[in-house]
Amino acid sequence: MKRKVTKAIFPVAGQGTRFLPATKSVPKEIMTLVDRPLIQYAIDEARAAGIEDFIFVTSRGKSALEDYFDHAPDLESSLRDAGKTNLLEVLQDTNMDSGAIAYIRQHKPLGLGHAVSCARKLIGDEPFAVILPDDVIAAEKPCLKQMVEAYQETGGSMVATMEVSPEQTSSYGVLDVSNQDGAISSVKAMVEKPPQGTAPSNLAVIGRYILSPKVLQNFSKINRGAGGEFQLTDAIAHELTVGREVFGYRFDGQRFDCGSKAGFLQATVAFALARPDLREEFAAFLTQLSAQKQAAQ
Ligand code: UTP
Repeated sequence: MKRKVTKAIFPVAGQGTRFLPATKSVPKEIMTLVDRPLIQYAIDEARAAGIEDFIFVTSRGKSALEDYFDHAPDLESSLRDAGKTNLLEVLQDTNMDSGAIAYIRQHKPLGLGHAVSCARKLIGDEPFAVILPDDVIAAEKPCLKQMVEAYQETGGSMVATMEVSPEQTSSYGVLDVSNQDGAISSVKAMVEKPPQGTAPSNLAVIGRYILSPKVLQNFSKINRGAGGEFQLTDAIAHELTVGREVFGYRFDGQRFDCGSKAGFLQATVAFALARPDLREEFAAFLTQLSAQKQAAQ
């Protein structure tokens, strides 16, 4: 019997330099797509997948993120008094149960793998999910839920994958896979940020994982990898060298790289157009804008 996945790690200790100067004082994960911070999309996805324990790996300067998860009783009561029940619901939807969230500090930005390993004592001996909040995925069935269901069949460790263009592979962890059975493939090897022209495929790993607790023990066996950082990809790849299984899961949905400015803007447009309260006005604006641009050319 596969164990239920009830814990998720959210590594949010990165410096977010691509969004400077904003990230001088605002954590990247608090930046908003329409009116919800990136972290809220990640939490909603985790909840939909049955996650009960939410572990944030944070760093200096991320206190706004911790404050975001505090309840706001004064604000709730003023909305209640003013009869603004819709807004009250929006606010209450974000409330987390006391004790459901834990914060762990990563004292130095030594990489994603290192950030995940900082949470090892809270994970213990259970499979766990990792969600990178700057990968936002629009999907009918939330991506992590798709993976949790697939994991019930495979066990082992599982990474979300998508095809990228050959020019982009050097920015990702890349899989070498053997058997492809629908959405699930069996991983033979994986490499973080392969130099241009050396990638084993164009199947990139993106920010959703379900991992065996054994992966956490691998950090003592790996060295610093790409970029001089301790890479999560390398710790997962170590599973293969000791004969344990790793699977790739091709999720159904559209992923936005909200860690980059272009991806963040694309997500903003897509999410605004998906909102019934904004769609019409925003679509009309975009049409007008593109007509003006064409006329000017
Ligand atoms: P990124 O590679 O996007 O780095 O990290 P970053 O620092 O967030 O952003 P840039 O590149 O400077 O703009 C991917 C994920 O790994 C986490 C980040 O918070 C993000 O969720 N991370 C990265 C850590 O938690 N610790 C690290 O040491 C590095």
